[in-house]
Amino acid sequence: MAYPHTRLRRMRRDAFSRALMRETDLTPSDLILPVFVREGRDVAEAIPSMPGVERVSIDRLVRLAEQAHGLGIPALALFPVTPPEAKSLDASEAWNPDGLAQRAVRALKQALPELGVITDVALDPFTTHGQDGLVDDRGYVVNDATVEALVKQAISHAEAGADVVAPSDMMDGRVGAIRAALEVDGHVNTRILAYAAKYASAFYGPFRDAVGSSGNLGKGNKYTYQMDPANGDEALREVALDLEEGADMVMVKPAMPYLDIVRRVKERFGVPTLAYQVSGEYAMLKAAFANGWLDERACVLEALTGIRRAGADAILTYFALDAARWLRA
Ligand code: PBG
Repeated sequence: MAYPHTRLRRMRRDAFSRALMRETDLTPSDLILPVFVREGRDVAEAIPSMPGVERVSIDRLVRLAEQAHGLGIPALALFPVTPPEAKSLDASEAWNPDGLAQRAVRALKQALPELGVITDVALDPFTTHGQDGLVDDRGYVVNDATVEALVKQAISHAEAGADVVAPSDMMDGRVGAIRAALEVDGHVNTRILAYAAKYASAFYGPFRDAVGSSGNLGKGNKYTYQMDPANGDEALREVALDLEEGADMVMVKPAMPYLDIVRRVKERFGVPTLAYQVSGEYAMLKAAFANGWLDERACVLEALTGIRRAGADAILTYFALDAARWLRA
C-alpha cells in the first residue's frame, strides 16, 4: 500500500498554516454600500423584497453614512427614489441641481468629506416608462439623445460634489462623452466607474421595487441595451471600449452568476474591477436566512470572498454594514 507523499490536508491541519496559505482576503475596505434616498425628514421606509434595507431621508442617510465610515467602508453608492410627480418623458429631473440625488451628495460631502460618494448615471428613476434612456415613438431607447441627457446628469452630480459618477445605462459612447464634458468643466478628478458589463438580469427586480421604477417599467424589458446573459466575449469588448473612453474603474453586474466574467475582465485588462452583488442576490440569500435554511454570517462572508477570489477589487453589496461588522469582530 503506497501512501501519498503530498498530503494537502497537512496544511489544513491547523489554523496557523491555514492562515499562512490563505490567498484571498476580505476587509471592510473592499466593500461599497448602496443606499436608497427618498424625500422627507427622519423617515426610513422598509422595502419588502429587500429585508433590512430601507429608503431613507437625507438626514437619516447621513447617519447611515457615518456608520459605514466608522466601520471602514470607503464609499457608498447613491440611488434616489424619485417621487412620481417628478418623473417625465424627458427625465429632466435627473439634472436638476436641487434634485434629491444632488442634495444628498451635498449633505454627505459636507458631513463626511472623506467618505467616497458614487452616483448612478441613468435615467430610469426619472422616466415615466422606467427605461434608462429617452424613447422614440415605438418605445425604443435612442442612444445619442440619451447620452446627451446622461452628460447633463453626470455634470450635475460632479457639481454637487460627487467623487465618482457611475453610468449604469449601457448606452454606446457615454463614458467618452461624460469624460470629455467633465474635463471641459474642470472636473478632472471626478472618477468614472463604468457599469461596463451590465447584464439584462432578472436579479434586479427588488431594486426596481426599491426605487419605484418597476411599476413604470411594467412588462417592459431592457434587452436592447443591457447584455444577454449568454455572452462573455461581448463583455470584454464593452470593457475595452469603456477603458478607451476614459473609465477609471469597470464593473461587472450582477456578481455571483457572472464570476467568470469578473475573472476574465481582471485577467485581460488588469484594471480596477468591481462587482455588484445585486438586489436579487441579496433577496434570495435573505429569504433563505429568514427560513433558517442557511447561516447568514457564514454564507455572506463566503459569497463575498468568492467574488473577491474571482478577481473583484471591490464589491457593491447590501450586506456591506453587517459584513464590515463581522469582519471587525
Ligand atoms: C439603474 C440600475 C439598476 C440597478 C443599478 N442601477 C436597475 C436596472 O438596470 O434595471 C440594479 C441594482 C440591483 O439590482 O441591486 N440603471
